[in-house]
Amino acid sequence: MPDVIATYFFIPEQGTTPDEAAQAICEEETTGTWTDISTRTAYVQRLDGTVESVEEAGEGYVTNIHFPAEIFEPGNIPQYLSVVAGNLFGLSRLSAVRLLDIDLPDELVPFKGPKFGIQGIRRLIGTKRRPHVGTIIKPKVGLTPEDTAAVAYQAAVGGVDFIKDDETLTSQAFCPIDERVPAVMAQLDEAKSETGRQVLYAVNVSDRADRIVKRAEHAIDLGANTLMVDVITCGFAALQALSEEPGIRVPIHVHRTMHAAMTRNPHHGVAMRPIARIVRMLGGDQLHTGTVSGKMEHNLDELLGDNSALTGASYGMKATFPVASGGLHPGKVYAELSNLGTDVVLQAGGGIHGHPDGTAAGARAMRQAVDAFMAGVHVESYAKDHYELERALSKWGTH
Ligand code: 3PG
Ligand code: 3PG
Ligand code: MG
Repeated sequence: MPDVIATYFFIPEQGTTPDEAAQAICEEETTGTWTDISTRTAYVQRLDGTVESVEEAGEGYVTNIHFPAEIFEPGNIPQYLSVVAGNLFGLSRLSAVRLLDIDLPDELVPFKGPKFGIQGIRRLIGTKRRPHVGTIIKPKVGLTPEDTAAVAYQAAVGGVDFIKDDETLTSQAFCPIDERVPAVMAQLDEAKSETGRQVLYAVNVSDRADRIVKRAEHAIDLGANTLMVDVITCGFAALQALSEEPGIRVPIHVHRTMHAAMTRNPHHGVAMRPIARIVRMLGGDQLHTGTVSGKMEHNLDELLGDNSALTGASYGMKATFPVASGGLHPGKVYAELSNLGTDVVLQAGGGIHGHPDGTAAGARAMRQAVDAFMAGVHVESYAKDHYELERALSKWGTH
């Protein structure tokens, strides 16, 4: 079986050479430990890792390490991560180390990937090429079920394709799923009877491991047509449990709240790339990967590579829809689409509900900004005969 290849950036601690530092990762994560051990017998040594290369890169080094596939239990992602993203982060011979990417042989990818993916979600919405426009109900917490539903209605009649709960809203007493989901779905039905357009509503079912599948099934019984999970706080296994449950036949939207604790430091932690690959393998239909112009810190090269990891050829799996979210508004649509292309979901919370004329106008303005891009017309020219867009640009500008 071909090896697993993991790529790391690292900075050795003083007194440790780059080769020794890479070797330390290799030994800790395979058959070694801090000293020689008599039990590391000849037959065990077939599981040794190999440092394939060590190259200078900026303030540190990049290494490719090969791990024999036999170390991995096929299908057990938590175990994969404890090898390629485990103890190594704490080794004192390295002052910093960041997992940049992983490459798994086919035998270790017994996963089916997204059920819907980009094409499946486009079919549900009825689009071919244009980017989807989504919104997050804001404020992220506090609204009653009725007010949440009223906001969802406004967004739907304004033209969004997708509505989601925010990452901190689950089933708190002020807006329980039992009341929120029927209320929102009734309003979306009402909107559909007026517009003829289907809108997806992703219900955040994030919960403890032993309850999440039941909660998801319950949300679907209440009418949910999409699920959402906070994949880092719930764990990758939660996503897998949802996507592999035969009774769950709706798309899964994946939020990555807390990811920046791992991904943000360019020298230490886990880059978004391996997270994106794992989310796609485990069945995420949509995944947040960041924006080029929004409120969250980003690195454009990494973002483009992360989106390619979601959409490029990979183990015969469907493509996961990349989601750009956080601080977007109509004036930023051009920057996003010209960098990210049109196979993307653009989400705006504040950038829709903060429109001077309210949510429906905000949704229209976002759609108009997308239409301007698709027509190849400058957003400011398009705004001349699109009132909602003009109002949005005059509040937020085009940067
Ligand atoms: C939000 O919740 O405001 C953001 O969309 C989080 O940022 P991300 O989409 O880059 O993860
Ligand atoms: C998200 O969860 O993606 C967001 O909360 C984005 O919200 P914003 O558009 O108001 O930043
Ligand atoms: Mg949010």
